[in-house]
Amino acid sequence: LNNGVGRTPAMGWNSWNKFACDVNEDLIKEHADALVASGLADLGYNHINVDDCWQLTRDEKGFIHEDPSTFPSGIKALSDYIHSKGLKFGLYSSAGTMTCQRRPGGLYYEQQDAQRYAEWEIDYFKYDNCFNDGLSDRAGNIRRYGALRDALNATGRHINYALCQWGEQKIWEFGADLGNSWRTTGDIEDKWESVIDIINKNLDLSKYAGPGGFNDMDMLEVGNGHMTDEEYRTHFTVWAALKSPLLLGHDIRTMGQNTFDVIGNKEIIDINQDSLGKAAFFRARVENVYLWVGELSNGDRLLMVVNARENPVNAQVSLSSLVSTKEERLLSASWEVYVRDLWLHEDIGLFSNVVPMRNIPAHGVRILRLQRKGGDFPQ
Ligand code: GLA
Repeated sequence: LNNGVGRTPAMGWNSWNKFACDVNEDLIKEHADALVASGLADLGYNHINVDDCWQLTRDEKGFIHEDPSTFPSGIKALSDYIHSKGLKFGLYSSAGTMTCQRRPGGLYYEQQDAQRYAEWEIDYFKYDNCFNDGLSDRAGNIRRYGALRDALNATGRHINYALCQWGEQKIWEFGADLGNSWRTTGDIEDKWESVIDIINKNLDLSKYAGPGGFNDMDMLEVGNGHMTDEEYRTHFTVWAALKSPLLLGHDIRTMGQNTFDVIGNKEIIDINQDSLGKAAFFRARVENVYLWVGELSNGDRLLMVVNARENPVNAQVSLSSLVSTKEERLLSASWEVYVRDLWLHEDIGLFSNVVPMRNIPAHGVRILRLQRKGGDFPQ
């Protein structure tokens, strides 16, 4: 969506994956504090997004009200607090008659909601798909998500608008006119099978991503405890390279160093936030080993391999996989490339013809940044 925001994928924290409906203003403020104190805010994680269950009723004029038992100081005070920390503030509702947790939804109240959200100075808004009143075909989606888009735009406030429509009706084909991101699948779970399932469902979607509109592979589960660090590294790396929003979903107050070491990898964050905004393209899958190639704004290229097998593998990736035409493939035989490993944080050498990837662990990832010696890669 060309609304002046979301030119790179959103980064920050969202309450849902860890806390679900168990949210209150102290919890949210503590996460704002922890985002800053941990150094994550400096790395770019600058949104604090409250998900479902903050709202309770609508008044006779149709305006939404927060739950006073959990947000006694009010949403505006919370928004002010988060802004005072130098962070951005996000809220949630459903483009339906109720949210997924049966709180009042936003459908048919778009004017009142946009006005309130602008008064509360929100910066990000996630709009879900529950109880959509049968408006679930394409036209219905455009009606529901378009109405709030227009109402938000009319307020003049720049709000990153995140569609949470679970990939129905191939939302990626028309999402870029509606929002700054669109969920491509149902809900993530904190397990490897879920990560692989979401990856498989996103293999062909990279071409739809670009500045202002990204495929949302759902919020991160890193740090929630049911995957290995190896699996979390893979989850985080693929989300970053495919330009998914990077919204943390764990308890930031109590996270361990191992969690910080995954989500705090600046070289991977830089890939996600690269101004070109192109998602890495899926190239091949051989016996459950996947290959993507990517382009970066400075002309560098990416190679990313995921080993979804149960044993370590040695891979070799031909430089010809970086290009698409026959002429370019012939030329690539004479290239030499400098290669940097973004998890080792090391330049691993100058290679021609093939780039070796030794010993990629089971469920592991290898991501390499390539620079051509003495020239540029073809555009
Ligand atoms: C849906 C969304 C989730 C979360 C919950 C909240 O399931 O897909 O991301 O927002 O609703 O109820």
